Amino acid sequence: MSRTTLTISPEIAAYLTDAGMRDHPVLSELRARMADFTEGYMQISPEQGAFMQMLVKISGARKGIEIGTFTGYSALATVLAMPEDGHLTCLDVSEEWTNIAREHWQKGGVSEKITLKIQPALDSLSEMADQEGSFDWVFIDADKENYLNYYQRSIELLKSGGLVLVDNALWGGTVVNPQDAEARAIDECNRFIQQDNRVDMVLLPVSDGLMIARKR
Ligand SMILES: C[S@@+](CC[C@H](N)C(=O)[O-])C[C@H]1O[C@@H](n2cnc3c(N)ncnc32)[C@H](O)[C@@H]1O
Repeated sequence: MSRTTLTISPEIAAYLTDAGMRDHPVLSELRARMADFTEGYMQISPEQGAFMQMLVKISGARKGIEIGTFTGYSALATVLAMPEDGHLTCLDVSEEWTNIAREHWQKGGVSEKITLKIQPALDSLSEMADQEGSFDWVFIDADKENYLNYYQRSIELLKSGGLVLVDNALWGGTVVNPQDAEARAIDECNRFIQQDNRVDMVLLPVSDGLMIARKR
């Protein structure tokens, strides 16, 4: 029994992947590939991917947006959990990283379920304004200073009952006493969501903190 969340040791993290989820071969291959890159830490954790897949299935999400795609791990996990006619629009600025994403989406047989837009995400979101109220899933995982802007656009694009997930919402714990621009921006976004009566919300200690808000 505990009133607080367990601290996750490397052994427990390994157990979560080993016994706490069902892995997909292309997801494990992409994790292995990124383990050699210093930037590999940007990829979401295996258990977060599995948790997001569960949320996709529970919510029935079939039309989503991902803001910050990198080498495509979270996108691959998300569309694998969506039905055949599911679709995810992925927004990123990096051709280099998303080329790795395309390769693995191809391997996973999900390329047709994903549209990738390479330009600043705020520009892509503005171009999608004609689809307001039609999405049921948004995952925010790009530049932290724009988190509140991304959240605001997401709420407009979501339909009632749609989910917005904000990654790195604890930012290594630094949101408790923010000392730099990124920590301040994330804290501001967290507190804005807490006061936003358009949504129900919870911030969970999943990986680096996962804020989940459901549009009313
Ligand atoms: C933390 S990574 C995303 C990780 C990814 N969700 C995964 O699970 O592998 C952040 C990504 O945001 C992208 N990014 C940074 N600034 C951006 C912007 N203004 N618009 C769109 N993407 C941006 C970066 O190129 C990077 O690929």
